[in-house]
Parts: sequence; C-alpha cells; structure tokens
Amino acid sequence: MKQRENFSSKLGIIVATAGSALGLGNIYRFPCEAGANGGGAFLIVYLIVALLVGTPLMISEFIIGRRSKSNPIGAFRILSGKHNAWPVVGYLGVLCAFLILAFYTTVAGWTLGYLGKSIAGHFTGQDLGQIQQQFTDFTNHPWWPLVCQVIFLALTAFVVARGVKDGIERFSKILMPLLLVIMVVLCINSLTLSGAADGLRFFFHPDFSKITGRVLISALGQSFFSLSIGMGALITYGSYISRKDNMTSSAISVVLADSLVAVLAGIIIFPAAFTFGIQPEAGASLAFTTLPMVFQQMTGGYFFCLIFFLLLVIATLTSTISLLEVIVAAMTEEFKFTRPKAAVIGALGTAVIGILATISFRTGSPLHINGQTVFDLLDHVTALYFMPIGGLLIVLFVGWKMKRTDVLDELTNGGTLRQGIRMAIHYLIRYLCPVAIIVIFISQLVR
Ligand code: PHE
Repeated sequence: MKQRENFSSKLGIIVATAGSALGLGNIYRFPCEAGANGGGAFLIVYLIVALLVGTPLMISEFIIGRRSKSNPIGAFRILSGKHNAWPVVGYLGVLCAFLILAFYTTVAGWTLGYLGKSIAGHFTGQDLGQIQQQFTDFTNHPWWPLVCQVIFLALTAFVVARGVKDGIERFSKILMPLLLVIMVVLCINSLTLSGAADGLRFFFHPDFSKITGRVLISALGQSFFSLSIGMGALITYGSYISRKDNMTSSAISVVLADSLVAVLAGIIIFPAAFTFGIQPEAGASLAFTTLPMVFQQMTGGYFFCLIFFLLLVIATLTSTISLLEVIVAAMTEEFKFTRPKAAVIGALGTAVIGILATISFRTGSPLHINGQTVFDLLDHVTALYFMPIGGLLIVLFVGWKMKRTDVLDELTNGGTLRQGIRMAIHYLIRYLCPVAIIVIFISQLVR
C-alpha cells in the first residue's frame, strides 16, 4: 500500500493546524459575533469554551486521525469496528465541510475583491458613507463577487490537488507570523483613536446579565468554527501527524494563537467602530467597513491596507485548503477518486451552493429560506448545529467508545511523554466536554 504522507515536523502540524484555524473566523466572524452578542460577555464565554472545551476536542480529533491514519469516514469505521453507526459522524463532517466551504468562499471572494480595491487605492480619502457604499456596491455587483469566489475556489483546488506537504506547509510557515506582526501594529494604531476607551469597554467589560442561551451557543459555535473543530478537518490533519509528535502541546499552541488573533481583531475593530460611528452589531459588513476606515486615517495606510488584505487572503486560503482537504481525503480513500479529480469535483460542487450563497447576500435577493439568506442559513446551520453535535459525538467517541489504553497510548506517545496534564485532558474529554456541549446546546432551545 502507498505510504501515507506525514507532516514533516512538529512545526509542520502547528503551522498547518494554525493555518486551518486562523482565517475569516478570527478576523471577520469573531468581531461580528462579539458585536452582536454584547461584546465583553461574549468574549469571556468564548475564551473559557475555547480553552476548556476546544483544546480537548482538538486533541480528540488528532487522536482519532493519527490512530486511524484515515479520513473522517474511514477513521470512525476503522476505530469502532465494523457494522455500526459511527461512520455517520464522518459523513456529517464531510457534509459540514462542504456547507462551510460554500459560504466561506463568499467572504473569501470579498477579501480578494478588497485586495484588488486596496491595490487600486479605492479607500484613500473616503468617508464612512462612501466606504459603506463600496461594501454594498461590491457585494451587490452582478459578477465581481462571483468571479472572486470562483478564483478563490480554483486556487484552493490547485493547492489541494498537489498534495499535503508541498501544498499546505510551504504557504503558511512565514506568512502567518507576519500577519500577527501587522495585526499588532494595527492594534497599537486603534488604541490611539478617540473611541478607544469606549471600544475597549465594550469588548472587555463583561455585562453578565447579557449572557443568554443564545450568547452561550454563539460563543460555542464561534469557538468550534474558529478552531476548525467538530467536523473532521483536524481528524484529517491528525491523520498526517507522525507518531513522534506531541499533539497536546501542538493543540495548546494553536488554541492560544487562535484566541490571540481573535482578541487582536477585536482590539483593532471595536475602538475603530466607536471612533467612526459604526454599530458593533453591523453584522457581515463590520470588518469590511471598519478596516478600510482604519487604513485610510493611518500614516502609511495604503501600504498597510495592501499587506493586510494580502495576508488575509493567504490566511483564508490555508483555511479553505483544510476544508477541501476533508472532502478530497474522503473521496480519494473511500471512493477511490484520484486526488486531482477529487479536488476539481469537490470545488465544482462547492461552487454551485457557494454561488447561491453569494447571490443571496444581494439586497432584495429572493434567495431566502425561512426568512434567512442562504448565506446566513449555511453559517447558522453549521456553527450552531453541525459543529456542536459533531464535537459532542467526537468527544463521546474518544472518551467512551475508544479503549482507554489506546487513548492514553496516543496522548503519551506510547508512554514516552509525561502523563500529568494528559490525564487531566482525558478527564475533560470524558466529562466536562460532553456535559458543557449538551448544557449549552439545550440552553439555546429553552428560552
Ligand atoms: N477555522 C477557520 C477560520 O477561522 C474556518 C474553518 C472552519 C476551517 C472549519 C476549517 C474547518 O477561518
């Protein structure tokens, strides 16, 4: 049998997993959710959930992936023994990857469009009204958003078709740290704005009376979305991790880096929103109006804007790669497609639903289901249902279905790593994670 590819080094897993995790979830979706769900109250729930539920769940996915060396569908079949329902979790994960990729590439297309706008200098000297109008005009344009989305999908398919190591690792290694540097500069700039105090109060001061079931499930969904967990992306990446890698420390590094970038995005966006009079509840347009406003008032704004959108495009690309990789790994291993063929078919399938999502975003579009745009529907269904349910089934599988000795063997690399924290993680996987997910899931249903 063909030797399966592995990531080439410990840095390889961290870089690839961070590449999957960091993306629009941090810079576009996180501020949008925090803004709509009360700011500080959301942030605190988000961080607690990311650390205490997100980390063990990420490690659980790595365990399933590395133990089975298979895609999510094959993984559950291999580890659960034949003839039971567990592979359904893998199918749900692949379906979820497909649904996320569809609406995610809508926004990914916008980032490409905004990269073009920043090169052309469209934001220079514009006031808030004009920048808001640019967002409306761009997202309502008959073909630009679609062209950008299709280009983005094509780029993704190209990288995935070339295979794991070459495609994924090389991209992320230098560019993700650079993104962090630029974000720190932007943070410092935001802290000097006149609305900084109000913005920081909104983002950091928790008003506990605002914590409702809706805030809890939104924070849970956002943390799963942002960490790429609950749907098999990290089972797939876990299957490329070598026996020697320390999964626990890698997962902790990624969760910390991902949370840091989300918090930085908040520190950039909320002070700016309060300064320029943009509502924190603005929704999808929040990042795409606030950021250009930030750049156009900043010294060297043209340059920063360009580099920022370029790096955002790349951060987004490493996330779309990991989503398409789930579909492609399943198609090549379960249904014997070749990698290039699977990448092309996966991207074409995604384009069909993705284009509907993009069109549904237009003002007055009839593409509404149940009062929601196709775009919002895909976002809500995946983050509020698929990922929490997928995550629950994954921790139940590792905590209760897999043999304890096998799980501990994976956690400690066959007894060569110290048990201490790993026993605690096993405990979190078995008890805290399932209980927390169930309680939060139910809390949104009971109003
Ligand atoms: N975590 C990615 C982001 O924050 C999105 C993503 C979700 C990627 C699920 C893979 C799987 O942008």
